[in-house]
Amino acid sequence: MTSVGIDAIEIWTGNLELDLPGTFAPAKGEDPEKYTKGLGLQSSSFPDSYEDIVTMGANAAYRLMDRKGLEPVDIGRIDVATESAFDNSKPVSTYIAGCLEDVFEGDFHHANKGERKFACVAGTQSVDDAYNWIRAGRNRGRAALVIATDTALYARDDPGEATQGAGAVAMLIDEDPNIVELSTEQGYGSADETDFLKPQQQFPSVDGKRSVQVYLARMREALEDYESVAGDTHPDNFSYIPFHTPFPGMVRKAAALGYRNVIRDTDVEDTLADEIGRQPRPEAFGDDDAFLEATKEYTEALTETDHYQTWYEGTIEPTLTISRSVGNWYTGSVHVARASALQHALENDVDLAGEKLLVGSYGSGAQAEVHAETVRDGWREEIGALSIDDQLERRYSLSFAEYEAIHDAHNHDKDVETTELTTPEHEFVFDGWGRMGERKYRFVE
Ligand code: COA
Repeated sequence: MTSVGIDAIEIWTGNLELDLPGTFAPAKGEDPEKYTKGLGLQSSSFPDSYEDIVTMGANAAYRLMDRKGLEPVDIGRIDVATESAFDNSKPVSTYIAGCLEDVFEGDFHHANKGERKFACVAGTQSVDDAYNWIRAGRNRGRAALVIATDTALYARDDPGEATQGAGAVAMLIDEDPNIVELSTEQGYGSADETDFLKPQQQFPSVDGKRSVQVYLARMREALEDYESVAGDTHPDNFSYIPFHTPFPGMVRKAAALGYRNVIRDTDVEDTLADEIGRQPRPEAFGDDDAFLEATKEYTEALTETDHYQTWYEGTIEPTLTISRSVGNWYTGSVHVARASALQHALENDVDLAGEKLLVGSYGSGAQAEVHAETVRDGWREEIGALSIDDQLERRYSLSFAEYEAIHDAHNHDKDVETTELTTPEHEFVFDGWGRMGERKYRFVE
């Protein structure tokens, strides 16, 4: 069977940075530790006035194609996943293709282009679409370009303002991939939920506390569904477990729930029984509330054990490094988490080829998806080529007044004079409006 998966990745961050404990928390009269300890965030990325989902996506894709020596003729499909689209008809992928055609020889006239929407899970769904297209034998030897790009901005003073971010991840999906091969097995947890939505509005309506609960409930369903096709999972089977990361504190909760589920009826539960007892079983309780309370207590005790903490430090913590510095990138977040884990392996000289990852994606509205990935021999070279650390270093650090101004500059309901805080270099920039209200772009050398 053809091996299909992620052959290359490039990450592009918005060029501005907001220091959350240092700048945002004091201005809001909040304790900085809400950010560092509670949400697990140090800073978030923001787009400068000349950046948007097209420039960030095109810049990530440009770097990827340039580095891999690709031309448009090598790409048979361009899918963009976003929940920040500005057009209900013309897909963002056409804008990005237009940008790329300005700098590469040839065109994408025979590539299938589209846009995927299902909140933050759409990035993984686009990877899936590409996988299916290749496995169906319809790709004519060509690869697919998947771009997850978002400006995750919330209305001022919404609780979500704490978890903003902006950036793009471009992925090349191909046969015989260099980074990871995707499992055929997948699990879904999907239900009609009202936790986060944008009914014809730029900034989301969010029930933040509910979205946390829905994330956990759908993720548990997806894990159970995955196990029903792939067989029982065991924590020792996976080197890293990248989750969708709206903020690292969310993953702390998801990891505890996931670990509790996968150790049930295993040697790990047996080993820990002397210390914290066995997991509560529903049949031992008269009502649901008592069972849930006992489960909550067991989970809290579990996360205090050395056993759990060692697993968390090795398997989950490394997936969160980039996220702590960039905030929520919506569709790109789980793909940033994977890249972060692989960077950790590279820095620590871990021999990962042949090892497995378990990937948990989530989108509000709501759907979770779980699948496994097998790391391929070429992962080192690909991950070693990432420039995200340099990009993060180069970001311009915003004062609170500048943050307010840049938030206004990106607010579609406000008409404000914008000044650039950074100087674009070797990247695509927004270049004003066309006669039909289309957005225009150009490449700055
Ligand atoms: N020191 C240590 N921890 C602190 C703290 C302090 N001084 N102040 C707060 N915290 C902790 C809280 O206990 C909480 O952690 P917990 O959930 O483990 O208890 C965390 O920091 C966040 O604080 P909270 O008061 O709940 O923040 P909030 O009311 O601003 O809301 C969200 C947080 C996530 C609900 C909000 O940012 C939001 O709506 N985000 C957008 C939606 C989202 O990302 N959902 C996730 C699923 S997709």
